[in-house]
Amino acid sequence: MKVSVQVPATIANLGCGFDCFGLALPVYNVITIEETIMPGSGIEINILDNDSDNIPTDKNNIVYKAIELLYNYVGQVPAELKINIKTGIPVARGMGSSASVVVGGLIAANELLGHPADLDVLLSIASEIEGHPDNVTPAFVGGMTISSFDETGVVTYRNLPWPKEWKVTVCVPDFELSTQISRSVLPECVPIKDAAYNLRRVGLFVDAVYNKDCELMKLAMSDKLHQPYRMKLVPGLNSIMENLKHEENVLGCVLAGAGPSIAIVSNGSDTDNIKNIVSDTWNNINVTSKIHTYSVENQGAKKI
Ligand code: HSE
Repeated sequence: MKVSVQVPATIANLGCGFDCFGLALPVYNVITIEETIMPGSGIEINILDNDSDNIPTDKNNIVYKAIELLYNYVGQVPAELKINIKTGIPVARGMGSSASVVVGGLIAANELLGHPADLDVLLSIASEIEGHPDNVTPAFVGGMTISSFDETGVVTYRNLPWPKEWKVTVCVPDFELSTQISRSVLPECVPIKDAAYNLRRVGLFVDAVYNKDCELMKLAMSDKLHQPYRMKLVPGLNSIMENLKHEENVLGCVLAGAGPSIAIVSNGSDTDNIKNIVSDTWNNINVTSKIHTYSVENQGAKKI
């Protein structure tokens, strides 16, 4: 038996919603798992089309780890499997590539095992591996999500009705930044005034999305919990944020997840001004990039 699952890219945080907001975009990885016939052939992992040399193809691969946890959940260990990972999502760029392969691996393995786990169990395993549910939830269910998990790993989430007029321009620089490094610059404790700053904005963000309120969104997308600390890891980020501030169609400019990509939410798909400002700013400091404007993907992971 062979199962393929297509999983969307995701952008976490969206400014103020550190480790809790996420949204899906129409860029995909495809994870295929096949039970191999030859007993004793073991686990084979192939990475197709990948732009990074740093992805392990042994049992340290994150997809294998996810599958192993699911097999353990049903009292088994994975034995003979061929895992193909076709990567359309750039690696280590803040677009949820690792969450997507974890989600795809879990859905495919769950199918091979005869559906022992429901979405709650899969979400919980995926969040345990990722360390937070903000990317994995929209990868599973699509759209914009707000997610939380408790001490036992149970994930609670809600989809928010992201306005279809609000587009997301993702600016992907030509360098990688691992989530591990990007989290290592965050402090253990933050000033309470910064926590309160974000709390207010998270509340307003939810209202802005429900009411398609562009002016409120312009206030709501800023952050003091993670971006100020990560600024030094992404050359030009501060200038790009400053240069976009007064563009009428820009609702917010944020670090995509842990970076290094930058995500800009705009009202409408006429985003030439945004693309020009970002590429001019990065060109001046010799950063090359790929920039695309997307609608949010409302469909989560699916078998193909
Ligand atoms: N919320 C996470 C972070 C996303 O900002 O570190 C990356 O996994």
